Amino acid sequence: MGLLGSKKKRLVGLDIGSGAVKVCELRSSGKSGSEHYRLQKVGMALVPHDAIIDGDIMDGNAVSAAIQQVFAEQKIKAKEVAISVSGQQVMVKKVTFPLMSPAELAESVRWEAESFFPAGQGLDSHALDFAVLNERPSEGNMDVVLVACRKDKVEAYMTCVAQAGLKPLVVDVDVFALQNVYEIASQGSRDEVVALVNMGASFTNMTMLVGSKSVFWRDIAWGGHRYTDKLMEDWGVSRDAAELLKQGKMAEGRTPEEIEPSLAAISDSFAEELGRTIDFFRSSFKVDRLDRIFLSGGSAKVGGLTEILSDRLRVSVERLNPFQTLELDERSVDPTAVREIGCSAAIAVGLALRQVGDR
Ligand SMILES: Nc1ncnc2c1ncn2[C@@H]1O[C@H](COP(=O)(O)OP(=O)(O)OP(=O)(O)O)[C@@H](O)[C@H]1O
Ligand SMILES: [Mg+2]
Repeated sequence: MGLLGSKKKRLVGLDIGSGAVKVCELRSSGKSGSEHYRLQKVGMALVPHDAIIDGDIMDGNAVSAAIQQVFAEQKIKAKEVAISVSGQQVMVKKVTFPLMSPAELAESVRWEAESFFPAGQGLDSHALDFAVLNERPSEGNMDVVLVACRKDKVEAYMTCVAQAGLKPLVVDVDVFALQNVYEIASQGSRDEVVALVNMGASFTNMTMLVGSKSVFWRDIAWGGHRYTDKLMEDWGVSRDAAELLKQGKMAEGRTPEEIEPSLAAISDSFAEELGRTIDFFRSSFKVDRLDRIFLSGGSAKVGGLTEILSDRLRVSVERLNPFQTLELDERSVDPTAVREIGCSAAIAVGLALRQVGDR
C-alpha cells in the first residue's frame, strides 16, 4: 500500500476529518492530461467531538457510522475509496539526490528517511513512499518527495473504512490532495508563488507552490476548534451553540455580531502563525515573493478570516472553490448543496481525482 496513491480506476474520495467526513465522486471523460470532470456525488456528515483527536481515531465506531451515514444519504454505491492521512505524524519532505537507478534510489530513500523520525522510532514502525518530482541531467541530480507516516495510524484509518463496508485502495496525504484539486480548479499553471491553506477542525494543511509546482508541505496544529473553544470561553455558550455562532447564526441568546471580536482574535493569531510558516518557507527556499493565498477547509468560512489574513500578511487571499471547473450532474447533485459544502470539500475532491496506480 503506497502513501502516494496508485492508476486506472475512479475511486470515491473520502476525507475523514475530526470535524466531518466529506465524500466526493467524479466521472471523467477525455484523454489523460486533458480530462473533463463531472461531479456525480458530494456530501458530508459530522463526526462527534473527540472521536478523532490529534489525527488519531479514538472512537472507530462513531467514525465508521459517519462514513456509512454519508454514503447512505448520497446513495453512493461504489465501495472503492481513496482516503488520506494528515497531521503531525505524517512527514512530507523534498530531498535532492544525485541521479541514480530506481533500485539505488529506493535504498537511499530509506537512509534519508531515518533522519525523519525521533530517536528510537525507526522505519519499522512507519510506512514510507517516495516519488521523483523532476530530474536535472545537466546538474546530475533530481528532486524526490518523501512521505512517511506511522503504520498504526494508516492501519487504524483503513480498519475504520473497512468497518464501514468500504475498500480503501489508495491512502493519500491531505496536502497532495489539496495540490491536486488546485491543479483542476486553477485551470492550468500560473507562474506565481501560491500558498494553499486548508483549515479544518484540528489541523491546517498547507503547501507552497512555486510556478505551479509544490515544493513545501506542512500540517500546522491549528484549526476551527480554536474558534469554538474561544466562543465557549468568552460567552459561556455550549459547543453546539458555538458551532452555530461560527456559522453566522444566533444561538443561546447570542448574536453573530456580538461574538465577532472573539472570532477576529483567533483569526489574528492564525495570521501570525501562518506568517511564521511562510517566513520559514521564504528563508529556507530563498523565495521572496508570495502572490496569493487560497483558503479552503470548513474553517475558511469563518467570517472575516480572509480579510484579516489579507490585511495582516499583505497578500491577496481567496477561497478555493473546488467545484469551479467541474460540470455538475444535476440528476444526482443539488447545486445548492454543492455551494453550501463549498471549500469544505477541497480534500475530498482532490482524493476523487486519484486513480488506482497514479503517481
Ligand atoms: N460555515 C462555517 N463557518 C465557520 N466555520 C465552519 C463553517 N462550517 C464548518 N466550519 C468549521 O470547519 C471545521 C471543519 O472543517 P473541515 O471539515 O475542513 O475539517 P476536518 O477535515 O473535519 O478536520 P481536520 O482535518 O482538522 O481533522 C469545524 O471546526 C467547523 O466548525
Ligand atoms: Mg481535514
